[in-house]
Amino acid sequence: MALSLMVNGVRHSLDVEGDTPLLWVLRDELGLKGTKFGCGVGLCGACTVHINGEATRSCSIPVSAVAGDEVVTIEGLGDGDTMHALQKAWIEHGVPQCGYCQSGQIMSAAYLLANNPAPARDEIVAAMTGNLCRCGTYTRIIEAVESVVS
Ligand code: FES
Repeated sequence: MALSLMVNGVRHSLDVEGDTPLLWVLRDELGLKGTKFGCGVGLCGACTVHINGEATRSCSIPVSAVAGDEVVTIEGLGDGDTMHALQKAWIEHGVPQCGYCQSGQIMSAAYLLANNPAPARDEIVAAMTGNLCRCGTYTRIIEAVESVVS
């Protein structure tokens, strides 16, 4: 099935099965490996991307459902060679341990800040609750988000 997909500002014409999860199209067809496979059933947040500005779990949405939509992955979050403020904060705060879940964490945090530029700590905690980290970097994640808003 041929479909058109806009990812990180670039339009792609793809020949894929429409029920293929967006995650696999991003990783295997477009080579955007920053978006990770964790649980595959929408529970962990490792695969979070933005679709038309909404934080979305790419493992659980068929690519046919986002044809024509604007998809942004961790690779497109910054502005060209300039990292997003959250990416800089992640480095400054040494947030990652193994790092596997962190692109999903950052995409969820970016969605929060796009909709609430000055969240309180409890709002940050609530917004990040759905993104799991087996290394337990939660405290540093909250601190990094807070550093961007303060
Ligand atoms: Fe998509 Fe876990 S891999 S939510």
